[in-house]
Amino acid sequence: ENSIIVAIDGPAAAGKGTLARRLAVEFDLACLDTGSLYRAVAAKLLASGGDPGDEAAGAAMAAGLTPEDLERPDLRGEGVGEAASQVSAIPAVRKALLAFQRDFAHHPPDGKRGAVLDGRDIGTVVCPDACAKLFVTASPEERARRRHEELLGRGEASIYARVLQDMQARDARDARRDAAPLKPADDADVLDTSELDAETAFRKARDIVARKC
Ligand code: C5P
Repeated sequence: ENSIIVAIDGPAAAGKGTLARRLAVEFDLACLDTGSLYRAVAAKLLASGGDPGDEAAGAAMAAGLTPEDLERPDLRGEGVGEAASQVSAIPAVRKALLAFQRDFAHHPPDGKRGAVLDGRDIGTVVCPDACAKLFVTASPEERARRRHEELLGRGEASIYARVLQDMQARDARDARRDAAPLKPADDADVLDTSELDAETAFRKARDIVARKC
């Protein structure tokens, strides 16, 4: 297959989602936020009174995930993000979501010629064949500042120090787990956005994709 696949990985609140959506528009590609899959599994589990550490329940939820589940209004909250990080460490959950992600990448919807996927293991596990692999990162303080602003902007209560602490705990769990840990692929281009505004980060990412794909 010769479809264009762009992989975007990195820690929480590094700006992956914004970059993925803008690159998709720029290159006319389909876009999949793979974190929403893990968030949907976690949200369903929490809503059913389940425990995000319950491997069998998590695997069953992942296997039965429907497209409507990805539209749930409760996916973006911090509690769901935390629970998503817990369910995403369960190998059976990751396995159940792998086929969907690969299928999206290789057979993108709406007749698109390719896809942008963002997550933690796209360049390393889901699409090692991606033509461009971006590892988007920023300092923990900068990422926490952005997430804090985003929460306040949505009218949610937020304390910066707490956001920083929770985010570092989540990143550490995502990086230390055995199953598909967060790390740059050997052939990834690392884009540190700590000192970049959104426009400059986008232009750098666009140039990498244009050069590599
Ligand atoms: O990116 P987002 O914050 O929505 O992801 C929520 C959680 O889902 C992450 O903390 C991570 O544990 C998990 N995740 C993952 N692999 C992906 C995408 C997300 O393990 N490809």
